[in-house]
Amino acid sequence: MSQIESCFNLEDFRQRAKKYLPRMVFDYMDGGADDEVTLQRNRDSFPKFQLMPRALRNVENIDLSTTVLGQKVDLPVLISPTGQTRMFHHTGEGAVARAAAKAGTIYSLSSVSSTSIEDTAKITDSAKWFQIYVWRDREVVREFMARCRESGYHALCLTVDLPVHGNRERDLHSGLNFPLSLTAKMVADVLRHPRWLYNYITNPNIEIANMVGSTHAHIANESNLLGYIAKQFDPSVDWDDVAWMINEWNGPFLIKGIVNPEDAKRAVDVGADGIIISNHGGRQLDYMPPTIEVLQDIVQAVSGRAEILLDGGVRRGTDVIKALALGATAVMIGRPYLYALAAGGEAGVDRMFELLREEISRDMALLGCTKISDLTPEFIHRP
Ligand code: GLV
Repeated sequence: MSQIESCFNLEDFRQRAKKYLPRMVFDYMDGGADDEVTLQRNRDSFPKFQLMPRALRNVENIDLSTTVLGQKVDLPVLISPTGQTRMFHHTGEGAVARAAAKAGTIYSLSSVSSTSIEDTAKITDSAKWFQIYVWRDREVVREFMARCRESGYHALCLTVDLPVHGNRERDLHSGLNFPLSLTAKMVADVLRHPRWLYNYITNPNIEIANMVGSTHAHIANESNLLGYIAKQFDPSVDWDDVAWMINEWNGPFLIKGIVNPEDAKRAVDVGADGIIISNHGGRQLDYMPPTIEVLQDIVQAVSGRAEILLDGGVRRGTDVIKALALGATAVMIGRPYLYALAAGGEAGVDRMFELLREEISRDMALLGCTKISDLTPEFIHRP
């Protein structure tokens, strides 16, 4: 049995990823901010919601397809943006985008990806979103939007939970740097992971591809790219900037990183079409509430004026079902596909989608539902 065939759930991929990756790279992906309380609670909150099935319904044919911002998907699980994906496996963003296309779902590319907007667009014709920040230099923002438009990205997704970088202490301990370059401190760690090291050495350098390929990002005079990017994060960004951006983009627009129902209302008022409830996987403000726990309040606050998506701690088909029953249009995943990618490249991500599809289909049948629109709050039981 191959390594990925012996993975039967998403946690199994995490264990495989841990073996393949140097500890510092695994910790960057796996870790969160401060004491990692939000990171842990994202997971611990799903069990608070129980599933209350209806018996003796005909569940012979299960259909997992649905529509997200006007686009049909075959599975209600989308790919959340993650930076520097080639660090976790040399096949990087391309492998994940191809696997997402095969699974019939939407891929979101990160602004700080290791494959560019254009190169990712060429990989598949299927639906893609682009995650964006309001960079300090608005010309760079305009340029990114123009490049996305030209490359056919369907929607923009603005991240709003990162006015400043979260405190990731695992990275401070390990001395991890971006773009990744090996330092003396890392030698023992990488030598213990020869397959990863071989792939790292024999493949092109990992870069912040969208900045390297940018005509407006003046990185030439910068001693390091990360220093430039750190300066580009603009903590003065407010709702007026979001309104400006929505107007400039003039297409489907989502705001990612909202947990407060008042902010959700405000997002709709400025013109967002979608809200991604997220605490950045517990990587930004520790003690932000777990996403599944704020979902119902946000659904109520938005009352159908925008689509609601959610990420954070989704690992099981039952997690997906709970979020959808409580009013989410679909869920997004981050770490799970990175674990699967590290465990087995594109085939690993294919297998992850296959397992999720099987879990969701089986659990829908056990619940007495055959289609996504059947999932309603009546199936949720909170003792
Ligand atoms: C970047 O967005 C990260 O969470 O590391």
